[in-house]
Amino acid sequence: MPDLTTPPFPPAFLWGAATSAYQIEGAVREGGRTPSIWDTFSHTPGRTAGGDHADVTVDHYHRYRDDVALMADLGLTAYRFSVSWPRVQPTGRGPAVQVGLDFYRRLVDELLAHGIKPALTLYHWDLPQELEDAGGWPERDTAYRFAEYAQIMGEALGDRVEQWTTLNEPWCSAFLGYGSGVHAPGRTDAGASLRAAHHLNLAHGLATSALRSAIPARDSIAVSLNSSVVRPASLSPADMAAARKIDDLANGVFHGPMLHGSYPQSLFEATRSVTDWSYVQDGDLTLIHQPLDALGLNYYTPTLVEATETAPAGSPRSDGHGLSAYSPWPGADDVAFLQTPGERTEMGWTIDPTGLHELIMRYTREAPGLPLYVTENGAAYDDKPDPEGNVHDPERIAYLHGHLSAVRRAIADGADVRGYYLWSLMDNFEWAYGYGKRFGLVHVDYETQVRTIKGSGRRYADIIRDHRSRARRAA
Ligand code: FCB
Repeated sequence: MPDLTTPPFPPAFLWGAATSAYQIEGAVREGGRTPSIWDTFSHTPGRTAGGDHADVTVDHYHRYRDDVALMADLGLTAYRFSVSWPRVQPTGRGPAVQVGLDFYRRLVDELLAHGIKPALTLYHWDLPQELEDAGGWPERDTAYRFAEYAQIMGEALGDRVEQWTTLNEPWCSAFLGYGSGVHAPGRTDAGASLRAAHHLNLAHGLATSALRSAIPARDSIAVSLNSSVVRPASLSPADMAAARKIDDLANGVFHGPMLHGSYPQSLFEATRSVTDWSYVQDGDLTLIHQPLDALGLNYYTPTLVEATETAPAGSPRSDGHGLSAYSPWPGADDVAFLQTPGERTEMGWTIDPTGLHELIMRYTREAPGLPLYVTENGAAYDDKPDPEGNVHDPERIAYLHGHLSAVRRAIADGADVRGYYLWSLMDNFEWAYGYGKRFGLVHVDYETQVRTIKGSGRRYADIIRDHRSRARRAA
C-alpha cells in the first residue's frame, strides 16, 4: 500500500468530503421550501436519465445526524455542503424562513459537536424557480438577490461557520444551464449563457461584500471553480489557439474578473458573434474583484482540444458528451473536443492525476499567496454490495491514491493547498445522469436508505488517521 503521508501533508491539512443540497437533502416540499430550477428540470420529461429527480434522494434532511455520525466514523475533519436557497428564502427575495435556517443551524451544530469543520457553499445550482421565471442568471437583478441571500446566511451562521464559498462551478450554471441545456434551467441560448456568466461573476462579488459585512473577520470567503486543464492535441499554432480559446471560455471568463479585475480581451474577440457584452456596466469589474481568502478548485479530468473546420452558421455542434446537440462553448465552433487517452471512470472521464497537479500549480501562479483547497475530486463506479454486504471499490481507492499523491507533489512544489474534499461523501443524485452514477465513499441503497462505508471510505479513514497521528507526534 503506498504511503501517502510521507512527506507529510501540512499538520493542519483538512480532510473532507463534499455534497450539495439538491443532490442529498430530499424533503423538497417541507418547511416552506419551494421548487428550485432543478426540481422543475428533473420533473420535465426527458431531462434526466430515467426521469430521476431528487424529491427524496438520500433523505439527508431527515437523516443528517446519522450522516454526521458516518463522517465521524470516517474521521473527516471538514465537510463541504451547500444550502438550498429556496429552503431559506423560498421566493428568492424577502425575509428568510426560520425552519429552513434552523435545519442548517442544527446540521452545523452537529458537525461542530463532532469536531468537523463546516464549509458552507451558498449556491450549488438550485436557483429558486421564481427567480428563473423573472429571467434567471441572464438577468442582472438575480445577482442582487443572491447578495441579499448571502447576507441572510452570513447573519444566521457567521458565528459558527468559518469557511464560506459563494458559488460552486459557475461555469456549469452558465454554460450547461443556459448554453447546452443539459443542466437546469435547460436553455440553449449562447448569448444568454455569457450574460449568465457575467451576472454570476457579479453575484459572487456582491455576495462577497455582503458576507464581509455579516460575518466575523476571522471567517474565510472563497469561490469554487471547475477550471479546466486545457491541453492542445498538438503544438500546431491552430491547436494552441484552440486551447487558448477554451481556456478563456472555461477559466478566464471567471478567474479573470474575480482574481484580476478584468475579462481577457481575447474572450471578447472570440465571442463577438454571440454577444456584445453591453450588459457589463461601468464599475462591475470593481464590484466583482473582491479580495478573497481562499480559492476552491474542483477537478475530475483534463480537456483535450484541437482546431477544426468551423461548423456552418446555425448548425448546432454537440456538447461532446452526447447529452445535447448544443455546445456549451459559445464562439468556439472551430474547436473539437477529443477523448484524452487512458483508463476512464463510469462517467467516461479519463483518469489523469497529472491534471490536478497542473491545475494547482497554475493557480499557484495565477493567484499568488491565495490558499487553495481541492473542493471536489472523485470518481463514479458501478459499486454493488457483495453477498456479505461489503462494497469493494479498488478502482476508487486507486483514484484516491493517485490524486492525493498529485496534491502532495504540488505542495512539495510550493503550492499552498490547505485541504481536500472528496466528491462525494455518499452516493447521490448525479444531476442529468440521475442515480446511475455512484461517487460516494459510502454506498446508499436507494430503496432502503441503508448506508454502507465502501472500501474506499475505509482506506480514506486510514489515510486520515495516519496523518492525524503523525501530526500529533510532530506537535
Ligand atoms: C461537479 C458537481 C458535483 C458533482 C460532480 C460529479 O461538477 O459540482 O455536484 O455532480 O461534478
